[in-house]
Amino acid sequence: MDIALEQVEYRYQANTPFERLALKNIDLVIPSKRFIAVIGHTGSGKSTLLQHLNALLQPTKGRVLIGDQLIDSEKKEKNLRKVRQKVGIVFQFPEHQLFEETVEKDICFGPMNFGVKKDEAKRRARELIRQVGLPEDVLDKSPFDLSGGQMRRVAIAGVLAMEPDVLVLDEPTAGLDPRGRKEVMEMFYRLHQEKGLSTILVTHSMEDAAIYADEIVIMHQGEIKRKGTPKEIFSDPKELLSLGLNVPDVVNFQYLLERKMSQKLGKTCLSIEELSSALKDWKIRGERS
Ligand SMILES: Nc1ncnc2c1ncn2[C@@H]1O[C@H](COP(=O)(O)OP(=O)(O)O)[C@@H](O)[C@H]1O
Ligand SMILES: [Mg+2]
Repeated sequence: MDIALEQVEYRYQANTPFERLALKNIDLVIPSKRFIAVIGHTGSGKSTLLQHLNALLQPTKGRVLIGDQLIDSEKKEKNLRKVRQKVGIVFQFPEHQLFEETVEKDICFGPMNFGVKKDEAKRRARELIRQVGLPEDVLDKSPFDLSGGQMRRVAIAGVLAMEPDVLVLDEPTAGLDPRGRKEVMEMFYRLHQEKGLSTILVTHSMEDAAIYADEIVIMHQGEIKRKGTPKEIFSDPKELLSLGLNVPDVVNFQYLLERKMSQKLGKTCLSIEELSSALKDWKIRGERS
């Protein structure tokens, strides 16, 4: 399912003294099955943008096309159920949304609320608990007896139980330790590939953006400052640094090295493996061959 934003503007508390322009001039197409990373400072509009992808927020100007559904400022709430089912959002600290007595009931809640029969919801819960990397016996436990990382996986299984086409992730690894972050990101990437899910990820990790995304979108003061493939985005570290954003360590290393050597490597490397191969073939100027 494709999603397109056309000239989207969003104002919080429009027409009040507290009005706040959070998005403007947003044009963005998210084709089916794509992996997109959204980066930018706190307050740049990332979360506001994400909430337009399943009509939790409706634009105050412009329009959003989610599959064949058109969302604009006039759209009525009751027509949005299908969109909510097709586009699943995992918020920061999704474990705060758990509330049922057992993990199984928690995962089944969403689909049953959308008319899925109990047996089918339970079947999905059994399948998904494994897919998010937890043992099946967790299903009978209280979500509140699990560790933080396990609770987060349960919450993610609950979103997946709706069988969405699009998965929207708002800083889904916040608060996890490095190993937990890597595990959760690899899980999302596997789900993206195996289920053919479009994935939109807000992240502070430039490494994750570089490794996983097909396309990176940079948000700045409510606007899209730039978009492109990771290679395009990270080929000019100066621009990101001037926006106060980081680049992956490997990109920074290459940038500093090229400056010290007053010589370009000729390509942007996004992993240590790529950089070490490129360095092996690097002809240093003035060196005899
Ligand atoms: N509920 C709200 N009411 C008023 N202003 C808000 C609200 N949520 C966010 N904002 C403002 O909108 C802007 C964008 O916020 P947000 O989308 O949360 O940015 P990000 O996710 O990039 O940190 C910020 O200036 C923020 O203060
Ligand atoms: Mg945010």
